[in-house]
Amino acid sequence: MEALLRPYAAEVLDHPNFRRTKDFIQHSNVSVYHHVLHVACCALEIDRRLHLGCDRCQLVRAALLHDYFLYDWHEHDAPENKHPRLHGFYHPGIAAHNAEKDFNLTERELDAIRKHMWPLTILPPSHRESWVITMADKYVSALEVLKGR
Ligand SMILES: [Fe+2]
Ligand SMILES: [Fe+2]
Repeated sequence: MEALLRPYAAEVLDHPNFRRTKDFIQHSNVSVYHHVLHVACCALEIDRRLHLGCDRCQLVRAALLHDYFLYDWHEHDAPENKHPRLHGFYHPGIAAHNAEKDFNLTERELDAIRKHMWPLTILPPSHRESWVITMADKYVSALEVLKGR
């Protein structure tokens, strides 16, 4: 998957903080790293099949960074995990904050990261890339949870 995504987002894939996502579990036994790579590939496939005309670099970069919160959200006592029971509500904002520190993000990329948990975020996605990532994330997450069971 990395080879497929590299032409769109080498800067993200090579960043040392992004590599740390391999150490954190997202769902079941799937790391955040593998989860976001799955979401990025799924987002590309949705864009291709539905002929949506997304900006593919922004689509892949935002998909890779949508869960860039950089802690294990299952560890409720971890100091970085400031909202252990409300991770679903707070992690898009934390991911956007971390991603802004490490990368120069476009408004579209930030929108997709901040709103990927819609409808929890109340405000709906503003761009087609954000809608595609929201759909891809829900689909991939459901598969990961079901496979784990
Ligand atoms: Fe998320
Ligand atoms: Fe996700």
